Amino acid sequence: MPKYKPLNTQIVDPLGVNTSIAARPMEMGSNESRNAIVKETSGEPTVDYIGKTNPYIDYQSIDILLSLQHPRSDGYDELSFIVMGQVKELLFKGLHFELVNAQMQIRKNNINNAIEILTRAIAYAKYIADAWNVLSTISTEGFSEFRNNLGTASGQLSFMYRHVEFVLGNKSKRLATAHKNVAHVWPEIEKSLQSPSLYDDVISLLSRRGFKIDQQMLKRDWTKTYKSNTSVEAAWLKIYTEASLDNDLYHLGEKLTSLDENFSIYRWRHFLTVQKIIGYKPGTGGSAGVGWLEKVTSHRFFPELWSIRTNL
Ligand code: HEM
Repeated sequence: MPKYKPLNTQIVDPLGVNTSIAARPMEMGSNESRNAIVKETSGEPTVDYIGKTNPYIDYQSIDILLSLQHPRSDGYDELSFIVMGQVKELLFKGLHFELVNAQMQIRKNNINNAIEILTRAIAYAKYIADAWNVLSTISTEGFSEFRNNLGTASGQLSFMYRHVEFVLGNKSKRLATAHKNVAHVWPEIEKSLQSPSLYDDVISLLSRRGFKIDQQMLKRDWTKTYKSNTSVEAAWLKIYTEASLDNDLYHLGEKLTSLDENFSIYRWRHFLTVQKIIGYKPGTGGSAGVGWLEKVTSHRFFPELWSIRTNL
């Protein structure tokens, strides 16, 4: 990017922002109300609103959202780094919502619902991976212009990301501990650490469907990262010998594999972008940097769904 102090337009006057995080009161619409309005406007969008805001701003608290980007340096790339970081946090939240709901549907044996939800989760994972398209335009020199402003802030402290990893079964007591001092975040992280993951629920489903699953897999220490198991592998292998989309367990297995695949692509692109931007310098979060990321990049959430392919 060009090296000059960028023009950073203040889009919103902070003095006017309603900073309450609560949902703002709004009037409900209806087909009737919209039909009445369109008659008055002769089909042109409404432009007259009373009060100090408008319903679009209020519905999603857009003025707060667009007041939360605060570059701390004169570096040209910092705004895009902040915007993409925040976009990713929102996308992790959306992905987590789908994963928790897919898990609940599996628990209730509503497999087709879970499959539909996982289709969206996969779309999120692809979208999140594509965020690196923007971030990889940051050059080493451009990043250096604001890296010191991060202090010891690092993505490894993303509690939203940690929720996603945990619901998918990649647990870590150590990385969870980073949030222990944050009273408004820690209880949910701890709960998620101690709860069965989506995949643990899938394994219970396989057992309910009559597959012989080792008992220790149905009541294990949920705080531990999921590790491959031969009884689970045998169950998937059997399911995959009847590979057809009418076979709901096969269909579910393929959705989970696609999710794992796309999450791995996300991890891989993070690793690659980081290598391109900071080389082998240590991370801001205390790790060795690229060396540590390379290790976490090789993780697979659903290992048996990968290993069975050798024998198919
Ligand atoms: C583009 C510049 C970026 C660089 C150079 C970078 C670098 C790093 C490094 C070195 C680590 C290892 C931990 C440490 O800091 O010591 C890390 C971890 C991490 N970063 Fe980034 N990062 C960048 C952008 C982002 C963005 C925009 C996000 C999204 C919010 C992100 C999310 C994460 C996450 C979630 C981890 C922890 C990974 C895990 O636990 O498996 N990073 N990053």
